[in-house]
Amino acid sequence: MIDGPTDQLRREHELVLIVVEAMEREVADIEKTGRVHSERVAQMIDFTRHFTDGNHHTKEEELLFPLLEERSASAGGTVSILLSEHEAARDCIRKTDAALPDAERSAAARSAIAENLKLYAFLLRLHIGKEDTVLFPLTERLLNAQEQEMLSAEFERVEGEETETGASERYHALAHTLATPPAER
Ligand SMILES: [Fe+2]
Repeated sequence: MIDGPTDQLRREHELVLIVVEAMEREVADIEKTGRVHSERVAQMIDFTRHFTDGNHHTKEEELLFPLLEERSASAGGTVSILLSEHEAARDCIRKTDAALPDAERSAAARSAIAENLKLYAFLLRLHIGKEDTVLFPLTERLLNAQEQEMLSAEFERVEGEETETGASERYHALAHTLATPPAER
């Protein structure tokens, strides 16, 4: 199989990691200058909610994970840990979003943004590493070629909806915008 469902998820991880790296750069910048690039942080939240959670995690949580849980009890254990990591990551983004309107006037809000972006980046790097090295090889072992093709077709359906609305192109472009460091202040 040349391009299976796990290849697609791995490619999406690469895009997510571009934004994770931008978050780490933002944290370093907040710690150094005491200021927040609010518009960039809002773009990071938008990307994370739409692409990472809305698109990528939908494929995992609604399509891949249930299939693995059904197939093997030990895969089910791994899946429940991964699901709790998705939830912990969402919580970081909720807290970042809640603090963002006060970033200009409140040092506590700026700290909350830096802490939650830092925790999110830390969690996501570990989480993606675990999926790439444990979950995907397990998926490739548990599902036969036909099942993997069916999963790919389901992913294509999700992707087709994203392409139709222009979201796919928009979020790829946004990740690459965020990859460029902000201008010096
Ligand atoms: Fe993932």
